[in-house]
Order: sequence, then C-alpha cells, then structure tokens
Amino acid sequence: MYHAYEHYVIKNVELWTEREVISQCDVEIQHGRIKAIEKHISVPKSAHLIDGRGFTLLPAGVDPQVHLRVPGQAEKETAGTGLLAALRGGIAAVLSMPNTKPTIDSTEVCEAAVLELEEAEHLTGVKAYLTGSITQSLKGKAAAPYKELADWGVKAFTDDGLGVVDDDLMRSAFEASELTGLPILQHAEFPGHGGVLAAGPVQEKLGIPAYPAAAEADMVARDIHILKDYPKARYHVLHVSAHETLELVSAAKAEGLHVSCEVTPHHLWFSSDEIKDEVTSFKMNPPLRGPSDKRALRKALADGTIDFVATDHAPHEASAKGQNFKTSAFGTTGLETSLRVLLSLVTEGVLSPQRLVQVFSSRPARFLGIEKDIGDISIDRPMAAVLVNRESREEVTEDDLFSLSKNSCFLGEKLDGKIESVFLADRYYQF
Ligand code: DOR
Repeated sequence: MYHAYEHYVIKNVELWTEREVISQCDVEIQHGRIKAIEKHISVPKSAHLIDGRGFTLLPAGVDPQVHLRVPGQAEKETAGTGLLAALRGGIAAVLSMPNTKPTIDSTEVCEAAVLELEEAEHLTGVKAYLTGSITQSLKGKAAAPYKELADWGVKAFTDDGLGVVDDDLMRSAFEASELTGLPILQHAEFPGHGGVLAAGPVQEKLGIPAYPAAAEADMVARDIHILKDYPKARYHVLHVSAHETLELVSAAKAEGLHVSCEVTPHHLWFSSDEIKDEVTSFKMNPPLRGPSDKRALRKALADGTIDFVATDHAPHEASAKGQNFKTSAFGTTGLETSLRVLLSLVTEGVLSPQRLVQVFSSRPARFLGIEKDIGDISIDRPMAAVLVNRESREEVTEDDLFSLSKNSCFLGEKLDGKIESVFLADRYYQF
C-alpha cells in the first residue's frame, strides 16, 4: 500500500503552508522528519527522488467531524474503509463522532473502538481520535462520565446527530469543559420541527416539511447565553448552515467568549436550489440552505468567522439512503472530496492558498491539540503532507470513493485537483 523510505527528496514542487506559497522548491525528509526546504537540494545516492514538477505540496488535512461508525456499525463503515477514505482525501487525522453502537459514553466503549481501529490506523497511517457523548446513550437525560472519558483521552464531548435540549445538561457540559479543557461540540438543533430539507424549490416540489434555520440559531443563542456563566469553557458549533448562526457566533467571539464553529464542504458547494431531487445523498442534517446562506458561509470561512472545515462524513448503507427524501437517513459522505472542494474554491477566488491550509489542516490541528504532528511543512517537523495536481478538473465518480458507503452528494460534480500521493513520516502512499 505504501513505500517506506528512510531518506527521500521531493523535487521541484510548489509548496503551500499557512504562511506562504513558494512557487518551486525541494523538500528533503529523513527518518520521517523534514530536514530541509530549499530552492535546490542535491539528492544523495542513498535517498529516493520524487519528481514533484507540476504538483502542489501542502500539509495533510485534519477532519474534526467524521462518523467513522466505530464501534459496531460495519454495515455503514469499517475502520478500514473509513480511514482509507480519509487517506485518499489527503486527510491524516480524524475526530470520530460517538453516535455509534453502542454510544461512546464510557471508557469501555472507547477501548472497544480502539480495538476496531488499531489495524487500520497502522495500515493507513491515519490517526483516529475519539469523542465522548455529552449525555448517556445520547438520550439527553443524564450526563456522561466526563472526567473518566477525559482522563481516558477523548478529545471533545458531543451528542452529534442530536442537539442537547436541556439547559442544566448544557451547564454540566460547560462545567466539564472548564475542568478538562475539552471543547463541547454542539449539533445545534431544537427538535420537533419535523423538517427534511430547507425551504426551497426542491422542498416545495416534493411537498416535504421545511427545516427552519431557527432550529439551529435558537439553540446557538441559548448556548451562548448559558456560556456567559462559564468563561473558561470551550463551545464549538458543528456544521453551521445558516447566516443567523454566523451572526451569533461573530458577536460571541467579539465578546471574548471561547466560541468556534465549522462548515462542511457540501454547505460551501451547494445551496438548496442545487439539490438533485432524485438523489437522497442531498438529505443531510443540517440541510443545505438558500444561495444567500451559501454566500455568507463562504465569506465567513474566508474572513475567519468560521474557524475551519469539517466533512460531517456520514456513511449510510444503500437501504438506509435508497428510499425517498422523507424516509431516507440524513447524511452525505465527504472525506474523499473535501480537499478537492477547497481547491475549487481557491480557483474561484473564494479562498487564498494560505487560508485553504489553515481551514483544512492547521486550525483543526490546533483545535485538537495535535499541531506538533500535523498542520505545517517546516524544518524538523514530522512529515504529513499531500501532493496534488491542481490542473486536473474531473467529475467525481464512484471510483473516487473509498468509504464503504457511496452516499456522496458530490457524485457527478466537476471538482478541481487530483490527489496524487500522501506522505506520512517515512511512508509514501502513491495513488
Ligand atoms: O446528516 C447527518 N448525519 N448529520 C448528523 O449530524 C448526523 C449524521 C449521521 O450520523 O448520519
């Protein structure tokens, strides 16, 4: 699956980091770490030479919202297929969500997840971090054992897939955040609206209930109100979909609260006007919203109101997605296409190359506290990088998908960038 080279040099490559773009340079890697970055490096006989001419090298990605479905949902995804999908998308670390079978709400379930993950992590070189749930069994009734889960090593707490409705439970989650330093990731949605798609032409045509933006924004407003009593707590809004939410996040940041948020590639790429009405992969939670929301999300990602990108990779077996919009499960996959969407946004002038590196890699790495290992290409750091051909612009086909499930709303879209290879320490994964 990969070559291991003790010593290698990537020649004549364009280099992107969060600080700069170098139009042509050589990068030397020895014992898995970056030894030199120079205009010209002469390659010793013992080193392997990789021709990077015409390609761009950038830090490998970190995806902080992935439904790996581990443990226990092998009909949707396995550790092997999920981490391979990440690798093929140029992503070297993922944060896995706890809505699994059973829920990740105890250290025993964490251990079961690790057992399932070990071999795939070793094979792919992709690191999977775990989250613990906010409430036991995601029932929204009783708090999970935060301290035990934090001591075990989860990276965050979330009930992703469900919003935490109870005010007192949000208070106990923020207390736990102050105590442990871990962020609380909110799937902001007050339930009960019964909506499937946001109001728009497809929702109207199909005659299905609309999913209001207020379900999201009202919960974020409630959370920020409570957060003011917990100034050291970290609050993160998952997959923001509506401009109303951005305004709340922006105001809370200006007040100095520890608030952050993320956006998915699908909310950046599509609006509710662009849903293909026969393709249930376009049913996801939160839903795609109108063109003005899409514009607001793109602008907020560029100006820093949105901190980074996360895929919300949500694989589902065909039978769960194969029915109509009303009965289909929520979710689209996204690990394999995230970087290609962002490269397309660079081409469109929405993001600079430096901002792409920030939102794809360095910012989520800092968020998870793994920035020593991933997020930059500079001397003495471990090598974690992806090589892309930016000239390529191809339709996404099933051949591009490595997840066990094929419910990608990007199938058939023309996206920039071909991911040629990934470098992780001494390993060279050539695709
Ligand atoms: O579309 C979604 N699918 N959104 C979520 O928040 C959960 C996810 C899933 O678990 O399938």
